[in-house]
Amino acid sequence: MVSNIRFVAQEQLEHCLQLFSQSLKPALYGGLFVILCASLLFTGWIKRNKPVLRRATSPDLEKPTTKKVNTFKAPGRPPGVWTPVDFKRPDPEPYPDWDVHRTNPLPYRPFKHGPYHITMGLRTMHWDDWIELDNHYLKFHADKTRRIEERGVTHCRTAPEAMDGAIELLEELCDYLPQRYPTLYQKTEVGMDNLVTNESFNIIQRPLPEDPMQTCARLVQDDLAIMFERPDGQYYLLAGAILLAGFWRLGDKFGMPLSEIHTSGDVPGFKTKLEKGMMNFFRRVQPNGPVLRNNYFLQVDDELAWSSSIGPEDGDHTQAVGWDTAKKNKAIEHHYFRSERQSLRRLPRSGGVVFTIRTYFEPITAIAKEPGVPGRLASAVRSWGDDVAKYKGRERYQDVLLEYLDEQHRQQVEKGVVSEDYAQEDEGRKYPY
Ligand SMILES: *[C@@H]1O[C@H](CO)[C@@H](O)[C@H](O)[C@H]1NC(C)=O
Repeated sequence: MVSNIRFVAQEQLEHCLQLFSQSLKPALYGGLFVILCASLLFTGWIKRNKPVLRRATSPDLEKPTTKKVNTFKAPGRPPGVWTPVDFKRPDPEPYPDWDVHRTNPLPYRPFKHGPYHITMGLRTMHWDDWIELDNHYLKFHADKTRRIEERGVTHCRTAPEAMDGAIELLEELCDYLPQRYPTLYQKTEVGMDNLVTNESFNIIQRPLPEDPMQTCARLVQDDLAIMFERPDGQYYLLAGAILLAGFWRLGDKFGMPLSEIHTSGDVPGFKTKLEKGMMNFFRRVQPNGPVLRNNYFLQVDDELAWSSSIGPEDGDHTQAVGWDTAKKNKAIEHHYFRSERQSLRRLPRSGGVVFTIRTYFEPITAIAKEPGVPGRLASAVRSWGDDVAKYKGRERYQDVLLEYLDEQHRQQVEKGVVSEDYAQEDEGRKYPY
């Protein structure tokens, strides 16, 4: 597009100059031609330099979509074989005015009025937005540090065949983070320094001081996982740092193929609606085609790292944890909104597909103050099908939650903050906000 505009402008200029040189008309006409040509070029220049409002164009996650997110054609290659490709992620711009104490988490509210559709809900990611850090960084970092001490070996692991991919991820983070968050990270000869916690990371020494996934975990607020394709064409979870996942344990899923991870987790609609598309996506995703998706859950305790309502984290691993054990209808103060923002990209050297899973966590009573949110969330929760409702544990909290949200919505309508007509509230909303 950009080069097209430039090309057209150049063609127009050449055409004008040709006419001008051949022209026998008075110099006045020539002058007009030059002005015209200059203005054409200038228009082209403006078009090329117009800022792109990328957040506004993100498709809606919960609307079924036929538009292919990744139009890059997958290379013909045997399953399980990856030839390193020469792709360098574009350097990010520094995050505008980022401050470890002042930058608030982004207010993701990725739910809409019913009906509810089960989709992967992928949207294209701009490279600047790969990793999001905010003023919860220090809390997340402290939680992670503590949990690495307590149970690092079970929560951060790298299979031998995945070691190069884990190191590639570590190198990528040490390249991206100082550019995006220069007040937090500073590049060094051997890696980078954290200017706030004073940690120093050496990523070139061998052996590395710890599992590279564990080091990656210290650098960001996200949980991290890398999937690798094997000759059977399936993607296996072979490297992970899962410290704040709330509902699942790396130990239960490590080494599993994607499909088993989803079926063992009873992900609704997986076989019927998701599996084929997901397999295709993983097989085709290229290093230059990163994507994002968001999801949300309700939780009935305030524990970010592990939601103990669904069972003890250290319980018997043969016994499934689940909503059955959660106490029913706790007071609304114990209801929390939990939302994940996931990015997916393929690493160019190792071919591993990296998942970043960033959790945003807030009391329901806080987000319900936002205009339109209680009405929209109530409608979304009501629109879940039976399988989704079971997966998200609705039976345990719906009475208390919906009564509260309905009342908050009623008050917003009464004050004129929102209209009573649900559908209108989605107009002009920029998903996933
Ligand atoms: C990091 O080092 C600076 C300068 O020496 C010091 O002022 C600061 O308190 C240190 N921060 C931490 C978290 O130790």
